[in-house]
Amino acid sequence: MRQPVAADSDVQAALIRVYRQNPGLSAFCESLVDLDEGMQEWRYHHLTDGEFHTVRRQLARLEEEGLEVVRMGATGSGAIAPGAIAEAVVDAVDDRTAAVLISSVLFRNGLIVDGLGEVGAACRRVGASLLVDAYHSINVVPFPVTGMGLEQAFVVGGGYKYCQFGEGVCFLRIPPDCSMRPVLTGWFSEFGGLADTGRVAYGEGPLRFAGSTYDPVNYYRARAVLRFFRSEHLDAPLLRAVSQAQLARLVNGIEALDIDPAILTLNRELPLERRGAFLALDVPKAGEVAARLRRRGVFTDHRGSVLRLGPAPYVTGAQLDEAVGLLGEATR
Ligand SMILES: Cc1ncc(COP(=O)(O)O)c(C=O)c1O
Repeated sequence: MRQPVAADSDVQAALIRVYRQNPGLSAFCESLVDLDEGMQEWRYHHLTDGEFHTVRRQLARLEEEGLEVVRMGATGSGAIAPGAIAEAVVDAVDDRTAAVLISSVLFRNGLIVDGLGEVGAACRRVGASLLVDAYHSINVVPFPVTGMGLEQAFVVGGGYKYCQFGEGVCFLRIPPDCSMRPVLTGWFSEFGGLADTGRVAYGEGPLRFAGSTYDPVNYYRARAVLRFFRSEHLDAPLLRAVSQAQLARLVNGIEALDIDPAILTLNRELPLERRGAFLALDVPKAGEVAARLRRRGVFTDHRGSVLRLGPAPYVTGAQLDEAVGLLGEATR
């Protein structure tokens, strides 16, 4: 089977043919580059090593175009203490700040970032926007936008983790009174009522940020999954309880293995209730261990020296115990 996102040589060849016959396409690409110019004096903040690649890469590229990016060390050695991340971000926000981009759960170590409401308040004071990447919270870690004081925040997330939607269904929550005029805009924005202001008009609410033609098939899959979740009473509090019980089982099993700390360590100072839905283990040879586990049928993720175990709700306790046993063998 082909990888769903791998390049298809037939499609590539066809596009290249079209492109060569159609110089207008290159004009379109070039005009996009100019759009960055108006943003030159913006300044962004985000957490260096805790943010997912989406934000890390995009900001690195915008930085090359002259944006100032302030990064804060939230994971790894010398990192800000887990309980003090929001406070450190609040301190860093000033009147040059255009936006703060921050995750609700750091994908690297699984830490839940507390105090996002205070970050939101600091942003409001200086007229900056707050965007929370809640991918690791949605459907598994409580994330009450209003209860957290995030009414004015942008929130992004998607379906291929704890929602079990599969790929292709992501979302953006916008603040209710958002009047931004996104520079990159799609014609679907015109599906709403448009006020004629003499400038490019935008649809109301989420239509402001609308793109254009997309493949809706994934949405039908997501709807079917959500219906299944509902019929089985699999709501977020239950899924959180299942996840916490699974993590506890893994933690107990891994501790009982008594692995040499030079090979594998688990940060016990981070209690379960402060963790998202996966366990991040410090394993200097994480890649090797992940490969050994995979050969035995255990799928893990590894980033640098971090091995991540993310049990899904349909994984049984016996399977988790088996995986722990195989982890013991893989670290010997
Ligand atoms: C925290 C976080 N944000 C975003 C994404 C995915 O973003 P994208 O839609 O850019 O692939 C992931 C996926 O693993 C993630 O873990």
